[in-house]
Amino acid sequence: MNTIIEPFRIKMTEPLPTPSKKQRIAALKKAHSNVFLLDAEDCSIDLLTDSGTGAMSTKQWAAMMLGDESYAGSSSWKKFYATVHDITGFKHILPTHQGRAAESILATTRLKKGDIIPNNSHFDTTRANIEFVGAQAHDLLCDEGLQNNLDAPFKGNMDLNKLESCIHNYGAKRIPFVMLTITNNTGGGQPVSLQNMREVKHLCSKHAIPLFIDACRYAENAFFIKQREKGYADKSLKAIAKEMFSLADGATMSLKKDGLVNIGGFLACNNDQWAQDFKNLLILKEGFPTYGGLAGRDLEAAAVGLMEALELEYQEYRHATVTYVAKALDTLSIPYVRPAGGHAIFIDAKAFLPHIPPLAYPGIGLVNTLYTEGGIRGVELGSVMFGKIDKKGNEIPAPLELVRLAFPRRVYTQSHFDYILETLDTVWKKRDKIGGYKITYQPTFLRHFTCHFKKIP
Ligand code: F0G
Repeated sequence: MNTIIEPFRIKMTEPLPTPSKKQRIAALKKAHSNVFLLDAEDCSIDLLTDSGTGAMSTKQWAAMMLGDESYAGSSSWKKFYATVHDITGFKHILPTHQGRAAESILATTRLKKGDIIPNNSHFDTTRANIEFVGAQAHDLLCDEGLQNNLDAPFKGNMDLNKLESCIHNYGAKRIPFVMLTITNNTGGGQPVSLQNMREVKHLCSKHAIPLFIDACRYAENAFFIKQREKGYADKSLKAIAKEMFSLADGATMSLKKDGLVNIGGFLACNNDQWAQDFKNLLILKEGFPTYGGLAGRDLEAAAVGLMEALELEYQEYRHATVTYVAKALDTLSIPYVRPAGGHAIFIDAKAFLPHIPPLAYPGIGLVNTLYTEGGIRGVELGSVMFGKIDKKGNEIPAPLELVRLAFPRRVYTQSHFDYILETLDTVWKKRDKIGGYKITYQPTFLRHFTCHFKKIP
C-alpha cells in the first residue's frame, strides 16, 4: 500500500473552538495583535508550537498510573534514568521541568561573562539563557541553511570553517562548550548529519572543547539520517540516536517534543564534576535529583514517550504529514523553507509579503492574517524573535523572516491540514492587502512573547 496512515486510532476527543471571523478580529485586538496573548479557546487550529502539545498514547496514560511520587529514589525515576541512559549513554541524567531549565543550569554553572557559545542556530531560550549570564551566543549555520529555496539534505549542519575561525578568533579558553541543535528549529527544523556531528566533535576535541547536543527533536533527526545519509538506511532509529549521542559530552532536552509528553526536560553529561555542580543548582532551582521539576508520573510517561518517538511507523506518519502539506504548498506556489522540516512548515514571509520591509515585521502580518482568516495560530520566527539591537540602539533585522506552522504530535488529522491549506490559499490570494506592524511595547528579554503590536496604516 502507498497510503501512509496514522498508526493509531482515536479513543478520546476534544472539541475544537470555532470562533467567527468577527470574534477572531476582536480577540486579536484585545491581544494587542500578538497571537501569544490570545486565549487558546479563540484558536481553531493551534500551530503555535509542537512543544508539550502532543497527544499521549494509551501506554503513556497507563504508565502515569504507575507514577511513584516518593521524594527520593522513586521507581519512576529508575525507569526514566534507564530509558534516557539506554538512548543517550550518558552517566548523569538530571530531570528538569522543561528544556530551558536544563539550559539555565548549564549556562549558570559553566559560563561566565565574555564566554562564547557557538551553535548551528541557538533557539531563543538557549540564546537568552547564555546572554543572561553575560556570555555570547553565536550562530554558525552552514550557508545552505540560510537559502530558503535550496533543496539540500542537511541544512541544519554547522559550518566547520566558521567554527574554526570562531575558535581561532576568540581562543578555545573562551568557549566552554559548543552546541548542536538537532533538528535545527530556528533554521527551519532542518536536520544535522552524523558526518557533520563527527566533524564538529573532531574539531572540538582538537581544542579540548566539550560538545553539547540540544536534543529536543533527536528522533526526527534520526529519521532524516536514516532517510538521507549514506550507510544508515538499514539502521534502527534507536541505533542512529545512540550514535548521535555518543559524539557528545552532554545534552539538554525538552521532553515536550520528542519525549512525547506535555511537560519535562533533562540535562545530561558524563563529567562527574559538572554533574555535581548541575545537581547542586538543580536542588536549589528544580528539586531533588531523582525528580527534578517533575512528578513521578511525568517521568513514567516520558520513559514510554522517548521510545515511542523512535518507532519507525510513528516517524513515517509524522513526516508524511509534513510532506503532504509541503506538496500542496508547491501546487499553490506558496514559498516555504525547502525541504520541509521535521516538525513544522516554515513559510517564507519575506517572499510571501515582499512589499513589507523586515522592520515592519512581515511575519507578524502573515501570522495575524492566518489567524483572522482561519483561526489558525502560527508563530513568527523573524525580526521580532531574532532581531538585534546594535551599540547605537538601531534594530538589526534577522537574516530570515519565517512563519512557523508547528505540528503538534498525533493531534490533527488530514482534514485539519486540508483546512489549513485552504486558509493559506485564501491568505495568499489577498497578500497584496496585508500590511506591516510596529511594536508599541516590549520587555528586555524574549520580547516576542509579550510585546504589543499596532498595524501600520
Ligand atoms: N531548544 C529547542 C531547539 C527548542 O525548540 C526549545 C523549545 C527549547 C530548547 C526549550 O525547551 O520549551 O521545554 O523550555 N521550543 C519550543 C518551540 C518552545 O515552540 O519551538 P522548553
